[in-house]
Amino acid sequence: MVVALVSSRDIMERAQRGGYAVGAFNANNLEYVQGIIAGALAERAPVIIQASPGAIKYVGLDYITAVVQVAARADIPVVLHLDHGDGLELARRCIAGGFSSVMYDGSRLPFDENAARTAEVVGVAHAAGVSCEGELGRVPVADRVWTREELQKLWTDPGEAARFVAATGVDALAVSVGSVHKMLERTAEIDVERVRRIRDATGVPLVLHGSSGVADESLVAAVRAGICKVNIATALSVAFVRAMRAAIARRPEEVDPRPLLGPGRDAVAAEVAAKIRLLGSSGRA
Ligand code: G3H
Ligand code: ZN
Repeated sequence: MVVALVSSRDIMERAQRGGYAVGAFNANNLEYVQGIIAGALAERAPVIIQASPGAIKYVGLDYITAVVQVAARADIPVVLHLDHGDGLELARRCIAGGFSSVMYDGSRLPFDENAARTAEVVGVAHAAGVSCEGELGRVPVADRVWTREELQKLWTDPGEAARFVAATGVDALAVSVGSVHKMLERTAEIDVERVRRIRDATGVPLVLHGSSGVADESLVAAVRAGICKVNIATALSVAFVRAMRAAIARRPEEVDPRPLLGPGRDAVAAEVAAKIRLLGSSGRA
């Protein structure tokens, strides 16, 4: 049975009208997908399952789409999204494979080149009825400590964001407003006023990357200001691996992987449900 995955544009626009955000959770294996769906089902929330180019390389594109097709039989809206896509070729492969949403990340490129390449991916996506997210400004990786001043140089400018959205036709825009990818502590503070100004300038649903490292109150304030999609990867991996390590410590002689992976899956489900409650998307399925 092939189940229709939902377009991310629809659920993000609904979130924009409702003043909440949809959780977008990165999956790296079967247990992540099962945990994400279990958490979203428990909260009766729409959910975005996303795969990075690294996850696609690790799992295989066909395996991901097949597994998420099964996951989408759940009685909640499910999106399958390409996260941080690196070009037209991967976007085309994902769209042909059944993804209902793609991202092109040209945030390291100069404005004009980013806009031109993003517009190309938008064209291909829209021709197939698939939504497309772009990124302007850059959300860096926590491979070192970033000072607030360094981060501010990477932040999204509201006027440029408006020009970018008009030039590309993106359905959603990822913005740099204070978060940093792969943080292990929740200490990042979002420039909420900047989110509001970008929302007012562009009108499109805004996406927050690097959300694992954002303080809870800051995340809630960012959603109120216009963030409609919240990307979470590291927090799930931390929960998964911590639970798996604890299971291995409890059963050091165990050779069946299931009692070791199962707790990881349950930990992902609990983390997903907690984030969904924070984002206000519980009961919005
Ligand atoms: O695109 C994925 C997200 O931006 C995840 O960031 O690993 O810091 O949660 P995170
Ligand atoms: Zn990201």
